[in-house]
Amino acid sequence: MSSTPIASKIIPKAARAHLDPANIEYTSEKQKNAVAALVEEFTVTPELLKSIQKNFMEGMKKGLKKDGETLAMISSYVVGRLDGTEVGSYLALDVGGTNLRVVSVHLNGGGEITTRQTKYRIDEKLKVGDAKSLFDFMAVCVDSFLDEHQIVVRGDAQIELGFTFSFPVLQTAINRGTLITWTKGFNASGMVGKDPVALLQDAFNRRHTPVRVAALVNDTVGTLLAYAYNHPETIMGVILGTGCNGAYIEKISNIEKWKGKTTADEMIVNMEFGAFDKERVILPLTMFDNKMDRKSVNPNKQIFEKMIAGMYLGEITRNILLNLIDRRLLFEGNVSADLNQMWTFETAYMSSIEADHSPTLHETRKILESTLSFPSTTLNDRQIVKTVVELVGKRAARLSAAALAGILEHTGAWKHKSAIGIDGSLFEYYPSFDTDIMDGLEEVFGEEVRKNVSLGLAQDGSGVGAGLCALLAAKNSATKDA
Ligand code: GLC
Repeated sequence: MSSTPIASKIIPKAARAHLDPANIEYTSEKQKNAVAALVEEFTVTPELLKSIQKNFMEGMKKGLKKDGETLAMISSYVVGRLDGTEVGSYLALDVGGTNLRVVSVHLNGGGEITTRQTKYRIDEKLKVGDAKSLFDFMAVCVDSFLDEHQIVVRGDAQIELGFTFSFPVLQTAINRGTLITWTKGFNASGMVGKDPVALLQDAFNRRHTPVRVAALVNDTVGTLLAYAYNHPETIMGVILGTGCNGAYIEKISNIEKWKGKTTADEMIVNMEFGAFDKERVILPLTMFDNKMDRKSVNPNKQIFEKMIAGMYLGEITRNILLNLIDRRLLFEGNVSADLNQMWTFETAYMSSIEADHSPTLHETRKILESTLSFPSTTLNDRQIVKTVVELVGKRAARLSAAALAGILEHTGAWKHKSAIGIDGSLFEYYPSFDTDIMDGLEEVFGEEVRKNVSLGLAQDGSGVGAGLCALLAAKNSATKDA
């Protein structure tokens, strides 16, 4: 088994260069009507945004009452807030995004954190193979990280590790839980109902790796903790990346289903909001969403996530483009072999197309012709592609806004100074995602929300947060098993 570290690439974020569909020189009335129909289908009006928000809040209440609801509202067993004074060194393993990351986190006090990290690519086969191989791979990566950074452990000592495992896990302790279901293209066999901590600890023990899994944490919870380390007014941690989800600080008296013991009066709740509207009553699903959902490894699940997250936006866009091609309204009815393959239209291309402000749509041309091997494209083709991309991207941001608005209203946090820490490639790189979310929040709450609520990038939140969680686990032995 090999573990290949990969280099990280930082692409500076650009602003959206909006193309008004009214300014396109359409090739036919039929093409114009097809675009108008897409605009209608993909626009989340302020009224719809507010209805989704209301429905979302009802879902939150149900999930806080009992287990097994659509919004799982999982008690994280993380209590107590950080104030940035904490010091120490912890190891974190972050699994659940595109890459696996091992991070050593050093808390220097004064809100200052330094990290060293290595990313490893998880082979697609491992994601859908057997669970033991997947967990063995995780242990190999941690082992090679310890070697690479010459982290030596003496005698019987063990390094404490925070494990960010970003899937729905019903927790029964800070370091125990059972996987409810896989998401985001993972589907390793024999895992549902099992404890990821036990599997990881077994994998370490098999290799004699001197590591103890001290805390299990969702990436949203980690992000909240990481952001709170230097923004004490943080009330929410959100991931807008490969998948999407949020965690927030809830009063324990509101978590009616909580049966555990703790002296704390609030706890971070991992909402698992990617599963929202499983019943399909409120989300404006289109045939393009349904097609993508049917072909995914988890059909009928995580519908909300599939309309928002980076793993899926490119595929929805590809489905729309294919439909226009089949109707001979784009590329003169010809498809390239690349575009004909599933998942080839990456969400990263959408970011570049959104940011393309050249009159000839030069960047869009490069993606279509050099990357997706269309022999040639016309300006009209490129304008249609850009319009489709903008519709899918903006819908995703506005749906995210509906969820955040639900949490802000439920907690009342929009009325006072509060911060939302957000991690994930979509938030980090997708042009104007933050602006679209803020605009959506303003539609719900009015201008005041801009003064009170801030959205910020919690870079590496999911990795750093796991280290912080290991620290809290050591500090708060008050969180007992349910
Ligand atoms: C998926 C997972 C969830 C995670 C999110 C973001 O929705 O189920 O646990 O937080 O992706 O990574």
